[in-house]
Amino acid sequence: MDGLKGDSIASALHAQGIKTLTKSLRYDLPRGFFCGIGKCSSCLMRVNGIPNIRTCIAPLLEGVKVEIQDKLPDIPDAKFQSKPKKIVSVDILVVGAGPAGLSAAIEAAKQGTKVLIADENLQIGGQLIKQTHKFFGSKYEKAGTRGIQIAVDLEKELKELEKSGNIDLMLNSTVIGCYEGKKGKHKFAIIKRKNYDSILYEVESRTVVIATGAMENMLLFTGNDLPGVYGAGAVQTLMNVFGVKPGNKVIMVGAGNVGLIVSYQLLQAGIIVDRVVEAAPIIGGYHVHAAKLRRYGVPILTSHSIIEAYGKDKVEGVVIVKLDKNWQPIKGSKEKVACDTVCLAVGLTPSTRLLYQFGVNMEFVPEAGGFVALHDDSMQTTVKGVFVAGDSSGIEEASTAMVEGKIAGVSASLLLGFNKNAKDLKKQYKKELDRLRAGPFGEKPRIAKRKIDKLLEKKNA
Ligand SMILES: Cc1cc2nc3c(=O)[nH]c(=O)nc-3n(C[C@H](O)[C@H](O)[C@H](O)COP(=O)(O)OP(=O)(O)OC[C@H]3O[C@@H](n4cnc5c(N)ncnc54)[C@H](O)[C@@H]3O)c2cc1C
Ligand code: FES
Repeated sequence: MDGLKGDSIASALHAQGIKTLTKSLRYDLPRGFFCGIGKCSSCLMRVNGIPNIRTCIAPLLEGVKVEIQDKLPDIPDAKFQSKPKKIVSVDILVVGAGPAGLSAAIEAAKQGTKVLIADENLQIGGQLIKQTHKFFGSKYEKAGTRGIQIAVDLEKELKELEKSGNIDLMLNSTVIGCYEGKKGKHKFAIIKRKNYDSILYEVESRTVVIATGAMENMLLFTGNDLPGVYGAGAVQTLMNVFGVKPGNKVIMVGAGNVGLIVSYQLLQAGIIVDRVVEAAPIIGGYHVHAAKLRRYGVPILTSHSIIEAYGKDKVEGVVIVKLDKNWQPIKGSKEKVACDTVCLAVGLTPSTRLLYQFGVNMEFVPEAGGFVALHDDSMQTTVKGVFVAGDSSGIEEASTAMVEGKIAGVSASLLLGFNKNAKDLKKQYKKELDRLRAGPFGEKPRIAKRKIDKLLEKKNA
């Protein structure tokens, strides 16, 4: 088969019309790609004989052999264990090179600290690399600039600082575990992938910034595991990163900003968006985005949801239903709609697994998107030297993620005794964060952060 340079294995297979990437172990049901960013494991395949490769983030290389895993994979051979591990020591490890992690790393390196930034993706920028629209938010934090351009700008800044020797970047590298290091240091295991093989790194750092972003939420309905049911981020990754159409006719579930923006991008790619269904009685996203869809004649049905996706080996249609004011299906309102793609834009959950490994205090804060680390206004968690920033500290936006990253980067440097003058900088960033969260669309994060403050106060009392 053919693919393009820069494709992932999964995007190349999609371009060839192959949506089934794996089979369920018990019932042998077809499974496809769901998140597209290495977070859900629905794309595991055997690649060059190596089992459990996440093909959505594995690069396509010439002559690669890719197989469906329809049984439990064999235990990998001992090649990996026998390779010598590489040992690295830094002042700050930043996990995640999205807007939060990049801003944290840049800011910390500017203060003179030695920073290592690691990301499991093939490119830097996190969610930004698929945001082709002009960003909303504050003019002080890149509003009106396209997300992809913000990623380019941040990368330029990072590359400039790389020359000073203060920043090292590791891509295609997953931070898989945190351990106790010597003399109050933190120790991490990082797997760097090279040609589907792996090199183990042991990284020791004095502080760490966890900026691992978020995971797309799944919705409970019959057939939600059929190939052709995607998270909105995966649809964007296919279209905007790899130039591959996810399907020809889409039902969008969710009318928040993500659902509305991705619907518009689907239309721009020449794909039919049959309708947007939204369980809430009102549209959650900005009306400017809803108006664009209406101009294209796309109906946005509030108080509606999906109850089934049907099809033999992939999505062939859905059943949607009208909901009453208690969000219960109204009898007789079921409607069958033919389509080949279901796109779920029903919220995100912070990626917090590494934080749990540290034993950081985690609490459920619905307005933040789920369980989040208690943290102070320096973005420091309840474990000294462990900082958090961006969507992994509570779901918000790239604009706030960047400022939180800057605060975490400066605070981590200050904790290590670098550039005491940076205290004023920290104050300035905190003011900026308050300004970004002012106004009606900042209400949810304001509530979330207030709750986190109160829970932290209670814990420290
Ligand atoms: C459709 C859509 C439209 C949006 N529009 C806007 C907008 O107009 N304005 C705005 O301000 N925001 C917008 N956002 C939100 C914005 O993209 C996110 O809030 C922002 O990207 C969060 O930044 P982050 O750095 O916290 O996380 P991410 O951008 O998700 O980056 C996290 C990074 O961490 C890496 N990672 C995770 N775990 C590990 C690990 N264990 N080891 C190594 N690396 C790891 C990931 O690969 C990823 O690159 C939009 C989002 C979407 C989906
Ligand atoms: S991990 Fe590859 S699609 Fe989710």
